[in-house]
Amino acid sequence: MGKLDGKVALITGAASGIGRAITERYIADGACVMAGDIDVAGLAALEAQFGSSVATLLCDVTSETEVAALCECAIERFGHLDIVVANAGAGTYGLITDLPLDEWRRIIDLCLTGVFITLKHAGSRTSDGGSIITIASLNAIQPSQGMSAYCAAKAGVAMLSQVAAMELGGRKIRVNTIAPGLVETNATSGMFSIPIIIEEFTENATLSRFAQASEIAAVASFLASDEASFMSASFVSVDGGGNTGRYPNLPQAFASLNT
Ligand SMILES: NC(=O)c1ccc[n+]([C@@H]2O[C@H](COP(=O)([O-])OP(=O)(O)OC[C@H]3O[C@@H](n4cnc5c(N)ncnc54)[C@H](O)[C@@H]3O)[C@@H](O)[C@H]2O)c1
Repeated sequence: MGKLDGKVALITGAASGIGRAITERYIADGACVMAGDIDVAGLAALEAQFGSSVATLLCDVTSETEVAALCECAIERFGHLDIVVANAGAGTYGLITDLPLDEWRRIIDLCLTGVFITLKHAGSRTSDGGSIITIASLNAIQPSQGMSAYCAAKAGVAMLSQVAAMELGGRKIRVNTIAPGLVETNATSGMFSIPIIIEEFTENATLSRFAQASEIAAVASFLASDEASFMSASFVSVDGGGNTGRYPNLPQAFASLNT
């Protein structure tokens, strides 16, 4: 018997990386998954792999209409909604003095407003006693030069999630935040092409390594399950101890490429 048997989960950004690993893990645990993403091919691959355990819908988390449709689709397809993972996100690089305002707004819109929209529409439809998980980042608590918009958005996600935990607590819905450290996904492939960044990351992590997406999914599985029944408004670092160190010096690493 799986620990999520009979549960229905909605996951944003489900077509790749951490979102895909959580989809895979939840289905292995017995849940059905409503997967949203902007990547058509990635969604088709989920359907091919998981069949009737998954339903997919094109959904840009910055669109309130599309997120509302994703939530409706989960209920139409599977009957109810018990678990929500607000996962979609991406970073950008640029020092504050150089960062175009449009780029700042794009990242805040995707990483912070997208989570707000997901909490708004999925929160109102989640069954009493359900579990909502937001994916923040080590950068919610550890600043990085060149990542102002991402760091500010992820710190915002942590606080937004605590507010949601307070507002939804009356319905016994738990809201928790996972803060991954460095995970090998499409989003970080650029970093993995610069060895000095990866070396700094692994030096700063007490476990001296980076993570695979399945290790984040394992924590998301626990938080979604009844085993985490007394956890809400928690900020769960899954960073191999990276929060004890400091973030890699990205400007220096990029400058070293040009010398
Ligand atoms: N990989 C890491 O090291 C790491 C560390 C900390 C936090 N995170 C966070 O984990 C989450 C997942 O990142 P990942 O590493 O798996 O990245 P990824 O690029 O592998 O996957 C992100 C997915 O989100 C989708 N997406 C992008 N914009 C979207 C939008 N507007 N609406 C809906 N879907 C959208 C992409 O198509 C992709 O499928 C993000 O919130 C990211 O900030 C990642």
